[in-house]
Amino acid sequence: MSGTEQVRELQVELGDRSYPIYIGQGLLGRFGETAEKHGLPKKSPILVVTDEAVGSLYLERATASLAASGYVVASHTVEAGEQAKRLESLGDIVTTALSAGLDRDSTIIALGGGVVGDLAGFAAASYMRGVRFVQAPTTILAHDSSVGGKVAVNHPLAKNIIGAFHQPEFVLYDTETLATLPPREVRSGLAEVAKHGLIRDREFTAWCETNAEKLLAVEPDALSYALREGCAVKAWVVSQDEREGGLRAILNLGHTIGHALEAVAGYGELTHGEAIAIGMCGSARLAERLGFAAEPVYEPTSRLLAKLGLPTSLPSHYDTGAIMEAMMHDKKFRGGQMVFVLPKAIGEVDIVKGIPSEVVKEIVESLK
Ligand code: NAD
Ligand code: GLY
Repeated sequence: MSGTEQVRELQVELGDRSYPIYIGQGLLGRFGETAEKHGLPKKSPILVVTDEAVGSLYLERATASLAASGYVVASHTVEAGEQAKRLESLGDIVTTALSAGLDRDSTIIALGGGVVGDLAGFAAASYMRGVRFVQAPTTILAHDSSVGGKVAVNHPLAKNIIGAFHQPEFVLYDTETLATLPPREVRSGLAEVAKHGLIRDREFTAWCETNAEKLLAVEPDALSYALREGCAVKAWVVSQDEREGGLRAILNLGHTIGHALEAVAGYGELTHGEAIAIGMCGSARLAERLGFAAEPVYEPTSRLLAKLGLPTSLPSHYDTGAIMEAMMHDKKFRGGQMVFVLPKAIGEVDIVKGIPSEVVKEIVESLK
């Protein structure tokens, strides 16, 4: 890319489907030139999908840049929040796409957080059996969700249960957008940053704890470093195991309990980051309870998450039975066995199958 600002570039290595993640300030203003560089066709319309909050702040910036490069651009705006990640929204996007004349050479761009990314990505995966897709993340959390090609919508009974793998052409991460993130969303995104440290990088985990205040203050240098490190962990794992045949499941640290909490709470009551923060504490407790952890993991995990302003326990009104039932609907529940990602040590995790449900129930209770 040309220009004066510093742009950091990471590569997701997937053979001929490899793609870059561009991270830098002001990148939305360079959307058009980046689209051209990646050969997005100009004859077919582009559809930018966003949500109400992000759209009011950044849609014009993105579409103006694309239009200046000669692209015909339509847009579709969904409500803000997890509730938008449902099948009905997908139908609405398809209606807009057809009305705007999108064809097989068109591109769908996700401009927003993980909700828009997952929803627009699934639209791109399924519209005309698959069109090009670009991720333009605007939340901290989306340093995770915009990389790796998992796209999905929720079902009332289970999260992300209707979905696909559909890799983007590139990820354009304009970190300037993070300045307007509400504080609760900053904390939520930092849960995924912490997760990337906890699964694979002990040193980075320690750095996150030392720099927690800077991260919470959205200090650009600290945040930029954290996002790069987080994206690097994610990109490495995805490059090794794109379709979660094995290793990729380590990215699900905290998700078995976390997804169940999101479903039971009603999508939106807990943010995704809050739910997985509680889930990561549960995994650490479970690892210690089963004698799997080679060192104390619960105390350092919960200490880090608390410093990042995240919840580490479960509100007592949550029904343990309902949480257990929601876990049975999880994609990680296979052949009647509970599967968890458990920490062996800080910065090292493994996938553990066949965990007795009574022990999981005991851990869920202990989180209250
Ligand atoms: P989100 O997309 O709902 O964004 C959070 C809130 O912040 C929304 O209200 C949004 O309107 C607002 N917002 C976004 N960017 C903003 C900005 N720059 N300024 C002001 N407001 C802004 O939520 P999220 O936390 O980004 O993503 C959560 C979703 O990501 C969940 O559905 C989760 O399942 C999914 N996810 C997917 C993957 C994956 O690999 N596909 C990985 C992790 C999480
Ligand atoms: N967030 C889990 C994954 O991308 O595999």
